[in-house]
Amino acid sequence: MNLKAITKGYGEHVAGLQRAYEAALAANGFDAVVVHGGAAKKRSEFDDQWWPLRATPHFQHWVALHEPGAVLIVRVGRRPTLLRVTAVDFWEHAAAPESDHFVEHFEHVALAAGDDAKEHLPTGRVAFVGDEAGLAARWGIEAVNPPALVAALDALRVYKTMYELRCLAEANRRAAHGHSALRRAFFEGASSELELHLAYLAVTQQDDPETPYKNIVAYDANAATLHHVAYARRRVGEGGPRTLLLDAGATCLGYCSDITRTWVRDGGDATSAVFRGLVEGIEALQLRLCAAVVVGMKYEALHDRAHDEVGALLAATGVVKCSGDEAVSSGLTRAFFPHGLGHSLGLQCHDVGCAVLKPRADNPFLRNTSTIDVGQVFTIEPGLYFIDALLRPVREGDGAHRVDWKLVEALAPFGGIRIEDDVVVTDGAGIDNLTRAVLPEGGGAA
Ligand code: GLY
Ligand code: MN
Repeated sequence: MNLKAITKGYGEHVAGLQRAYEAALAANGFDAVVVHGGAAKKRSEFDDQWWPLRATPHFQHWVALHEPGAVLIVRVGRRPTLLRVTAVDFWEHAAAPESDHFVEHFEHVALAAGDDAKEHLPTGRVAFVGDEAGLAARWGIEAVNPPALVAALDALRVYKTMYELRCLAEANRRAAHGHSALRRAFFEGASSELELHLAYLAVTQQDDPETPYKNIVAYDANAATLHHVAYARRRVGEGGPRTLLLDAGATCLGYCSDITRTWVRDGGDATSAVFRGLVEGIEALQLRLCAAVVVGMKYEALHDRAHDEVGALLAATGVVKCSGDEAVSSGLTRAFFPHGLGHSLGLQCHDVGCAVLKPRADNPFLRNTSTIDVGQVFTIEPGLYFIDALLRPVREGDGAHRVDWKLVEALAPFGGIRIEDDVVVTDGAGIDNLTRAVLPEGGGAA
């Protein structure tokens, strides 16, 4: 989709935000909020290198403008005002926005060199939302990130507008090109992890700091590190790599995609056949979990169902010697599938608003505890890994008899599996799968 079509509903998005912000301000005793986009951050206080700015999510909810010092003022009964720094800096300058569709929806103030934003800011019952608490103090604003107001603003991020859904769909489309290219590269050649990472950036036209999260590119045993980003430079020699786990996304106007695929080469031996069965099993159960989404269901119940599915798969493939039910009830599946089934997705890869409640104690890493509702966007990403640090205590504990350790040892060099799609909950009929719409192939063999 082109940017013109994507941004068609932007006016309604901003109008809805204005109404919702006004209500949140009134409910929290404020007349205005100063939303700071962020300042460039140093790599280290001892250095003079700067990271490119990624604007704060509250700011990006209105506009994806990554300009240090940009400030948005939202006031009850007034059009929002955007303050942008126009001072010429001959060392650095910010990336141009992807599109200028936002311009007509704001009042604009240009800050020249030496200007202080303070003279343009409202006074009275004003809150500040952003990272720059020091600036807020300088500007005389005492209410910095008031928790109740921030919670109210975060809650707005749970339900996506049509404009946001188009951005998320486009972010999926962009990432799908990268996934397809790396799938081909994996099956055809012997690039290193670093080379695959660089190829993904090239295909998706992203610089490394622009990706929604650091690409996870993991061959073989590295896939047992859930967030493997220390890319090996070395090409894998004879017989390898056997597996590739690629967890990588893209953005569109600040909105993220978050997609994982796992691919396996057929090694012609019994162990790789078992691993291939596990990959196909995770792919099949991921699709069943997508199909099981219904409005009104607790996301945590879907996560529990994922454990039932993983338990059954472990039993069917002989990795565990007990029933799938026993693998779940004894806690054994937690050693193979330690992370949550998914998380809300939007301006942040792990978006806010759906993890307000704590998960049950046996689901410590679950990042979505919401009741599933129309308009939510979240990931569904079951996994199965051979992680020594989690399996060793099982091996040394009372439940060791439940596991076929010889098979686990043989499978450990394959690392792990994760299959992840981004889905939007739709009226009545379950979900639209934003990822499979543009990347129908899940994980699997060549
Ligand atoms: N894609 C990384 C994560 O969800 O943690
Ligand atoms: Mn994810």
